[in-house]
Amino acid sequence: MIRVLSVVAALAVGATAVYAQSSAIGQRQAAMKAFAGAAKEPGAVLKGEANFDLAKVQGSLAVYQEQATKLKVLFPDDSKSGEETAALAVIWDKKSDFLSRLDKLSGDAKAAAAAIKDEASFKVEWPKVMSNCGGCHKEYRKAKQ
Ligand code: HEC
Repeated sequence: MIRVLSVVAALAVGATAVYAQSSAIGQRQAAMKAFAGAAKEPGAVLKGEANFDLAKVQGSLAVYQEQATKLKVLFPDDSKSGEETAALAVIWDKKSDFLSRLDKLSGDAKAAAAAIKDEASFKVEWPKVMSNCGGCHKEYRKAKQ
């Protein structure tokens, strides 16, 4: 049963990924999912549930730099509504603040990539990168129902 369910889940993820290619909304949601995916392993390290792995941490930081840059063009004026977007209209009223937050995430990820050499420096630098997520969601994303 569990195996059947995980196959269904995998198919659902595959369908989402295909759909995601088709629109700015789908693409930005996919980029955000990549953010969440890249946070998983380092988050487990912080909680003491996984071993520190410098290569994996650097891989996640590369995802943040790439996807944050990509996201800057994924909020065009014609993507304010539809497809169950959770983006708030205020994004388009305060576009420069919104875009500067993506620049900051990318810049913080770059700085962290240079500063992280071992587990100790990871523990100092990683939370700085993650601190970018919640603030932007609070202001620019619909709260979960
Ligand atoms: C510049 C603002 C901003 C930053 C920074 C940001 N997000 Fe988001 N995030 C959004 C917005 C806006 C949405 C809603 C997008 C939509 O539905 O069109 C969103 C949606 C999401 C989603 C839901 C995606 C889905 O499946 O619909 C996840 C997960 C997420 N963000 C994770 C993160 C993580 C993790 C970080 C930090 C590394 C982060 N975000 C940083 C603005 C931001």
